[in-house]
Amino acid sequence: MPVIALQGIRGGVGTTSVTAGLAWALRRLGERVLVIDFSPDNQLCLHFNAPLSLTAGWARAELDASPWHQEALRYEEGLDLLPFGHLSVAEHPRWLAQHRQEPGRWMQYLTQLRDSGDYDWLLLDLPAADSACAERWRAAADAVFCVLTADANSHIRLHRQQMPPGSRLLLNQFSADSRLQQDLQQYWRQHLDALLPLSIHRDEAMAEALAAKQPVGEYSAISLAADELNVLAGWCLAHVSGARP
Ligand SMILES: Nc1ncnc2c1ncn2[C@@H]1O[C@H](COP(=O)(O)OP(=O)(O)OP(=O)(O)O)[C@@H](O)[C@H]1O
Ligand SMILES: [Mg+2]
Repeated sequence: MPVIALQGIRGGVGTTSVTAGLAWALRRLGERVLVIDFSPDNQLCLHFNAPLSLTAGWARAELDASPWHQEALRYEEGLDLLPFGHLSVAEHPRWLAQHRQEPGRWMQYLTQLRDSGDYDWLLLDLPAADSACAERWRAAADAVFCVLTADANSHIRLHRQQMPPGSRLLLNQFSADSRLQQDLQQYWRQHLDALLPLSIHRDEAMAEALAAKQPVGEYSAISLAADELNVLAGWCLAHVSGARP
């Protein structure tokens, strides 16, 4: 069961949308997928038609000392999601302190999920801000996709931020109308081996999909972004294997 962690080079680049879209695309290829939200923003579930009022999730369960795996929601047969859950501003540091006390806990969770045999793929939607927690979650993954947009901000970060070893760069919101974006994409293709050989274009269908609370492939199967996510899912099948025990 391969585990893929997706993390933005910074916030707002589209990591959660890509995670939801990739989960949908893998499912369409017949794979059984569990997608897990690691972000306190708790937005992933909104790509899967959850009500805004939903507060349940794995972090909420940890804080309430209740079983985390009971918080998984079935979107459709073979596609489940585990929300982070809602924590108040006061509760978040309390959860963090508790989570830090048992750093190996997530490895146990992943082992349980692997042993269950219920899923073929696990997708982790990580918050962009780097932290000791994010580092551990990434370490548990077989592949890490660092999502970025073709702009000067990302370019600067590529020079300054240390990319997690072995991570692949996934360009999202690419717009071929922009000369700067074209130049950056071409430059990165020439100089960055880690750049994935496929990009996801800026596509109104992707923006509308969240408004409709659906993964883009469900919202518009004929959209360019959905097609590109299908290609990404195929790439994952060909290149990512669950090598970790
Ligand atoms: N390829 C795309 N084309 C058009 N709009 C997109 C695309 N990808 C993402 N978006 C839009 O960009 C916005 C931010 O996306 P998203 O919430 O997925 O980003 P994020 O990186 O997860 O943000 P955060 O750092 O807040 O978690 C959303 O409104 C989403 O619909
Ligand atoms: Mg997000």
